[in-house]
Amino acid sequence: MRNKDFGVRDGEVAIELPEQPDAGLYFIGRIRTPWKERKDCPKNGRESDAVCTVELDPRWRDGLKDVETCSHLVLFYWMDKAPRNLVRQVPGHYGAQRGTFALRSPARPNPIAMSVVRLLNLEGARLSVIGLDCLDGTPLIDIKPYFASTDSVPEAVVGWHKRKD
Ligand SMILES: C[S@@+](CC[C@H](N)C(=O)[O-])C[C@H]1O[C@@H](n2cnc3c(N)ncnc32)[C@H](O)[C@@H]1O
Repeated sequence: MRNKDFGVRDGEVAIELPEQPDAGLYFIGRIRTPWKERKDCPKNGRESDAVCTVELDPRWRDGLKDVETCSHLVLFYWMDKAPRNLVRQVPGHYGAQRGTFALRSPARPNPIAMSVVRLLNLEGARLSVIGLDCLDGTPLIDIKPYFASTDSVPEAVVGWHKRKD
């Protein structure tokens, strides 16, 4: 990944990271997508209807029992190319400075991303899905069923997103 793809922009603020992480995690698979460079990636999972493949490490395959009954899943993935030390960011497509925790940017202390995807097919340890926005080869960290009954909050707002400042 070239530095210009994830370098600190004017107006962004970085901090010193703690010396040690507090926990470890397991990458449980890799996500195969058509996008090799950040500039080609959709900004969010709704921007593309490309079919992507989740390659689950076969050791976790038994955990997929009943997943085929789900129409939609929440995928959690690790934005392995993103910086982890930014607290204020200036997203290129908005141009205003925002706090990291008010953004869906991949740059965050723990670069966890999520998307609600539509499950098209499950064969062995491979899932075909629509609704992703990550680079090819991005590590997968979890899969959960999407419950429209509890996960959907239709009246939710992100105030700054409506403002034009
Ligand atoms: C704005 S984030 C949204 C991620 C996720 N849908 C979320 O809301 O948590 C999506 C962007 O992250 C960047 N990205 C994709 N894969 C990445 C990776 N492996 N490491 C770092 N950044 C990545 C691309 O610029 C992509 O457009």
